[in-house]
Amino acid sequence: MGTQDNEQTATTGRRTLLGAAVLGAGGVLGLSAQAAAAGGGHGGGGGHGGGLKSLPKPTVIGHRGASGYRPEHTLGSYQLALDLGADIVEAGDLVPTRDGHLVCRHEPEIGGTTDVASHPEFAGRRKTKSLDGVPTTGWFTEDFTLAELKTLRATERIPANRPHNTLYDGRWEIPTFEEVLAWQDEQTRRRGRQVWIYPELKHPTYFREQGLGLEERVAGVLRRHGKDRKDSPVILQSFEPTCIQRMDKLVGNPLVVLLSGADTRPWDFGTTGDPRTTADLVTPAGLREIASYAQGIGPTLDLVIPKDAAGRLTTPTTLVRDAHRAGLLLHPYTMRNENPFLPAEFRKGTDPDAYGDVFGAYRVYFATGIDGVFTDNPDTGLLARQDFVNR
Ligand code: G3P
Ligand code: CA
Repeated sequence: MGTQDNEQTATTGRRTLLGAAVLGAGGVLGLSAQAAAAGGGHGGGGGHGGGLKSLPKPTVIGHRGASGYRPEHTLGSYQLALDLGADIVEAGDLVPTRDGHLVCRHEPEIGGTTDVASHPEFAGRRKTKSLDGVPTTGWFTEDFTLAELKTLRATERIPANRPHNTLYDGRWEIPTFEEVLAWQDEQTRRRGRQVWIYPELKHPTYFREQGLGLEERVAGVLRRHGKDRKDSPVILQSFEPTCIQRMDKLVGNPLVVLLSGADTRPWDFGTTGDPRTTADLVTPAGLREIASYAQGIGPTLDLVIPKDAAGRLTTPTTLVRDAHRAGLLLHPYTMRNENPFLPAEFRKGTDPDAYGDVFGAYRVYFATGIDGVFTDNPDTGLLARQDFVNR
């Protein structure tokens, strides 16, 4: 299953608030320096997150880092998410290499987020594959060794919406999961606070069918780093419920089942013969079953508040109440500042990629009682939380 939410590339337009965001980062960087100077008693030995209950609510999760401002899934994006104050960093979406390493990319196809197309030595690797039933053309991580992937550089996924971010094209390489865990420890030490991460296992059935099972690899790496426990500051997520069930047997980490549109069916259910759709999973019975092996769900925002045909918000569903009754927390995805990604009533002006009234949208979503949210713009999310808790 690929990107689940609306990631449309609208036509041209220049954002006006990026400068403000970066100035904000500078301010937070100052605080970070103080934390670093103060030193920290955390880090190394896997860290102890204090458990899920220790996280601020609503929890602000840096989606693919701070991908509103930097090419996603780079150490630059992860670093900025922390500098902006994110409570957790989604580092990363995990896919394997041909030689079995775990790397951080949103999907196996890397033509849209790296400079692989400009590497003539890899021209012959371009293929069309069926990715969870979707014909997909490009270059795939499972066809590259880690050493080969390390010769590539990350680029902005949606340059039409985020032209400023192309400034950073070519600056960072593809991180490995091992590098992320080392970075987490280092950042925890420097900042004097426990840094949390929220990796997602991508397309587990697709990779298992190729002999590249993700679950055992992720569990093995976490174990080696002492980060496989209930109180480890690492939340694991997947769109495939059977993947999360596997992880429940392999590690003690908090687990979250991601949920796409109500009429979709998790890809693994096709292989296990489970006839249910997401609509079945979000019933009280479906949620109770999820709660037998997971601690939370990551639904689309539309499952919390559906939109009408014009893209405007309608009445909230009972998902928040039902999930909480089942003992599950909710971390919906994904808040983004730009007009194309906001409910219609919160879009502003005539510039399609200008920032809309994202604070208005946050007010409505936070009022539903969600426990946190994935966002490409962690600084905006933190201000929205401040508004919400001080309302
Ligand atoms: O992991 C939460 C959210 O990231 C799911 O959407 O497609 O961006 O991985 P996606
Ligand atoms: Ca993700």
